[in-house]
Amino acid sequence: MAERPYVIDQMISAKAIAARIEALCRDIKAEFPKDERLVVVGLLRGSFVFIADLVRELGDRDVEVDFLEASSYGNATESSREVRILKDLRGEIEGRNVLVVEDIVDTGYTLSHVIHLLSARRPKKLKTIALLDKPSRREVDFRADWIGFEIPDEFVVGYGIDYAQCNRNLPYIGKVRFT
Ligand code: IMP
Ligand code: MG
Repeated sequence: MAERPYVIDQMISAKAIAARIEALCRDIKAEFPKDERLVVVGLLRGSFVFIADLVRELGDRDVEVDFLEASSYGNATESSREVRILKDLRGEIEGRNVLVVEDIVDTGYTLSHVIHLLSARRPKKLKTIALLDKPSRREVDFRADWIGFEIPDEFVVGYGIDYAQCNRNLPYIGKVRFT
């Protein structure tokens, strides 16, 4: 796919992300019982870096990791409205403590669909965390239980998040500026 030329301007530093994750994990630990296993569900692919840092910050807890892939995005910067499950969980979540980890809440379609689907499996507790939130873009009424950072309506990349499959490996969050 041919892209227009662009540059990336840093928006949130790796250091700021790490500090925020520390604070979020204190809240997450307070919410879930210490002596029960937590199933941490990453939404592929954008959450893979975030979930890696989150579970290590929860290093003193009994954590299981699973993944789910949903798609509402093609390769463009516009969301389509249909959410499809491309890869389902490997494990069962009935009666268990579950934390769903997402990179960005944008229109809200993806997470609200996923939460609807997973809550039908009757977990004991189901919570959501998103690294980034773009509230001005919301089209369905949805709020994650924890948010890393609220950001304006900008297209961002890095720390797992891509533009046409590129820039996931940047250690910080940057915004795409077309030149
Ligand atoms: P929603 O269903 O509109 O909330 O879309 C959420 C998904 O859109 C996220 O999981 C991302 O994969 C993608 N997305 C939304 N905004 C951005 C962005 O700024 N950069 C890259 N992907 C994005
Ligand atoms: Mg995504």
